[in-house]
Amino acid sequence: MDVRVRINELVDALIRHNRLYHQQNEPEISDWEYDALFRELETLEAVHPEQAREDSPTKQVGSAPIAELVPFVREIPMLSLQNGYKREPPEEDPWIDLRDFEERLRRVLGEEAPAVFQYVVEPKLDGLAMELVYEDRRFVRGGTRGDGVTGEDVTHNLRTIPSIPKVLPPSAPTRLTVRGEVLFDLPGFEKMNSAREAAGERRFENPRNSAAGTMRQLDPKSVAGRPLHFYAHSAGVLPERVPSHHELLNRFAAWGFTVNPINRRCTGLDEVIAAVADLERLRVDLPYEIDGAVVKVDSTAQQDALGFVTRSPRWALAFKYPPPTAQTRLESVLFSVGRTGAVTPVANLAPVRVGGVTVRNATLHNEHQMTRVLGLRVGDLVEIRRAGDVIPEVLRAVDEPGRADRPPIAYPETCPQCGAHLVREPNPDDLDKVLIRCPDKLSCSAQARGAIRHFASRLAMDIEGVGEKIVDQLVTHGLVRRPSDLYALTKDQLVNLERMGELSATNLVSAIEASKARPLDRALMALGVPMVGESTARDLARYFGSLDAIMGATVPELTGVPGVGDNVAQAVRAFFDEPGNVEEIERLRARGVQFPGGARVANGTAFVGKTFVLTGTLPTLSRDAAKARIEAAGGKVTGSVSKKTDYVVVGADAGSKLEKAVELGVPTLDEGALLALLEGAS
Ligand code: IVH
Repeated sequence: MDVRVRINELVDALIRHNRLYHQQNEPEISDWEYDALFRELETLEAVHPEQAREDSPTKQVGSAPIAELVPFVREIPMLSLQNGYKREPPEEDPWIDLRDFEERLRRVLGEEAPAVFQYVVEPKLDGLAMELVYEDRRFVRGGTRGDGVTGEDVTHNLRTIPSIPKVLPPSAPTRLTVRGEVLFDLPGFEKMNSAREAAGERRFENPRNSAAGTMRQLDPKSVAGRPLHFYAHSAGVLPERVPSHHELLNRFAAWGFTVNPINRRCTGLDEVIAAVADLERLRVDLPYEIDGAVVKVDSTAQQDALGFVTRSPRWALAFKYPPPTAQTRLESVLFSVGRTGAVTPVANLAPVRVGGVTVRNATLHNEHQMTRVLGLRVGDLVEIRRAGDVIPEVLRAVDEPGRADRPPIAYPETCPQCGAHLVREPNPDDLDKVLIRCPDKLSCSAQARGAIRHFASRLAMDIEGVGEKIVDQLVTHGLVRRPSDLYALTKDQLVNLERMGELSATNLVSAIEASKARPLDRALMALGVPMVGESTARDLARYFGSLDAIMGATVPELTGVPGVGDNVAQAVRAFFDEPGNVEEIERLRARGVQFPGGARVANGTAFVGKTFVLTGTLPTLSRDAAKARIEAAGGKVTGSVSKKTDYVVVGADAGSKLEKAVELGVPTLDEGALLALLEGAS
């Protein structure tokens, strides 16, 4: 058979099977058969690249990594929605915000208001808003919402999502922008997490954040294969007049987009209320996360007449449900010791799914909450809530027979980690909530672990490889008691640790070494000064310019920094008045930590957040010089090539790192390209 004919057949078949699988959920062939067709196509295309079709499914996963995300500027701004909330019965009418919404519609339309409104009720998908641009019926570009006008161009990743049509049928307009949500399908998300866990990788916590993180990846290879979907819900540029919203959705579907099948047309407000209530009940079983319903006036003419208030259309309302709750058993209470010594009760729960994720722990906040507010006992059936990104919390214990016989939970008298007698400090903000802390800063291993993890964390010294497991081992083996001990570690000490090879030990030592030059603001964060987070650290570093200046500043001098109030100033002063802290700073300095002040690199250059690996001998730059310049521009240099590496800088006699880069598809730069990038960044 003619190659071109076969390629055409294969492409058409694969596109069709993709649609059956991803949009209609009715696959006709097995994954295995699909893969066989896919591989046949790949082979033919490899041998006859000139015959490869632009819309070939093989092209949708393999595009090259990009150097950085560029702005995505849209023609028509993406607006937001006015919010309404389900109110608490019985004191309030739960649907009052829907009734008010319709009343506003009537008021604005006046005479033109219909006797009965037609609406469409849709789930409010808790994903990532995205706009897709089609030119000549081809998908050419897509980007995130950003500020509504300018987002980030993530075309390379959108191309890997099977439910995004890459070519539209002739019935579609030539120019079109479609808006919708990209989100993880939850069963796929769980499966992906199990696979990650099995591979020793970190679990993704939250589907929405993970979708956002995934879409910002530079290399589409790490995106392809993740269970992401796109649901179309509105239009940007649409050159044809469509009489109603439901008709628009029908056309989207006819053009190959996925439209949510549970969107519902409703006549009148009572049907809307019923649909919104049904959706809330359905919510727990949906294969994706929603945080409410969107109610839209169906008629385009009415929408036009209603217009906009500030940045939202008057014809639509996002009606939010309260955060999802679930019931499960309290199996035990653990007392976790934070890096400052504060002891917090954490509920250990029988695993339960809440709003799409499996919850095993929930915070009990403090002693007062646990014993007095909730009155918890081990074995209680408890109601827990998970609101967005925050740690799940226990709301109440369900009253059941026999509950009173269970013994109440007592707060420990001694530190569960080091055995020191816990001290109770009055909390100046709320006398009920005493702070219970372990006073033994030096020998409490929990505090040591917390402080070291914090020190090495991304926003602080950003030492790659110093994660939870390594820190646990380092502390357990007595190799590290405080952050400054990291700088005395040797390769020989590290290779003896569990799951640590020669190479990882070498890399770890160089990562620790590299962190000595972290700018003052990060180093300040790393010290763990109470109340000093990322932005305060930056303000202090910028204002004072050196660690000594900050250490010597009085409270009035500190409050002179814009944004630093009295509480923060006192906390900073108290921290540096403590001899133990000053000694630790001296140890860090003695071991080479520099705390360099001075001008900080602006965020947003091509280097910020990027990881580089150097290999081989560069023509003019020494390895140290190359490293220093990359770091000065905000980049990071690590020792080994992984999927997380953004660039490999290649010189003469490069060896296995270059091979690894090619294998993983990590872009490579020669010295000239590196210098050109550095030039652009400065
Ligand atoms: S329609 C004029 N429909 O909610 C606005 N938006 O606050 C048209 N969203 O990030 C938007 N589900 O992406 C619409 N069924 C749905 C939606 C939905 C989620 C998001 C939207 C935007 C936000 C608006």
